[in-house]
Amino acid sequence: MQVNARKPVVVGVSGASGSLLASTTVDRLLEADVPVVMTATAAARMVWREEMNESFGAVLERWMDYGTFTYCPIGDLSAPIASGTYPTRGMVVVPCSMATAAAVGHGFADNLLRRAADVTLKERRPMVVVPRETPLNTVHLENLTKLASMGVTVLPPNPAFYLNQKSVTDVIDFAVARTLVALNIYDALPDDMVYSEPVD
Ligand SMILES: Cc1cc2nc3c(=O)[nH]c(=O)nc-3n(C[C@H](O)[C@H](O)[C@H](O)COP(=O)(O)O)c2cc1C
Repeated sequence: MQVNARKPVVVGVSGASGSLLASTTVDRLLEADVPVVMTATAAARMVWREEMNESFGAVLERWMDYGTFTYCPIGDLSAPIASGTYPTRGMVVVPCSMATAAAVGHGFADNLLRRAADVTLKERRPMVVVPRETPLNTVHLENLTKLASMGVTVLPPNPAFYLNQKSVTDVIDFAVARTLVALNIYDALPDDMVYSEPVD
């Protein structure tokens, strides 16, 4: 039997704005020597083309060089992460579209991301969703509440205004660090992301 340290985190990328959140999350996990199994929806790849300088194919190739990165096509419902018997440390859906939040909240496991999320929930493993939509309608709020009621950490990528963040990169780094804490990868936030009272 193996020790847990090498179990992967599942990263599901859906078609909300914020591809940089997904890319930074995978970067930080691989830098922390945590294996990653990733899947991305068709809409996620569409958004990626709009928002990122590095193409989706190029970034996959870069991550493959780590030797701890696996990419599974969204239609591959026979991939290991579709089964609860495959051990993982948990899952993050980043960014999480309102469509995916609705599907996961209602048990629609009709693509690999949604099935992997369904498995994570049934196995009661740590799960984080990073929703990206504004403003939120009642259906969005109800679906996110449903996820929270099942123990999911709902982690909107909000700026930490109190940290005097200066750039989108600061905001992304903060959301990703919070995600890794919620997944028990980091013990705590880095010191420069922790609020401390200003000294006179
Ligand atoms: C450029 C672009 C940006 C989008 N941004 C968002 C968004 O921020 N939040 C959201 O819920 N949907 C957004 N959408 C719509 C979703 O992509 C759409 O609802 C899609 O069906 C989601 O599918 P998925 O959840 O399987 O990825 C965006 C679509 C495009 C093309």
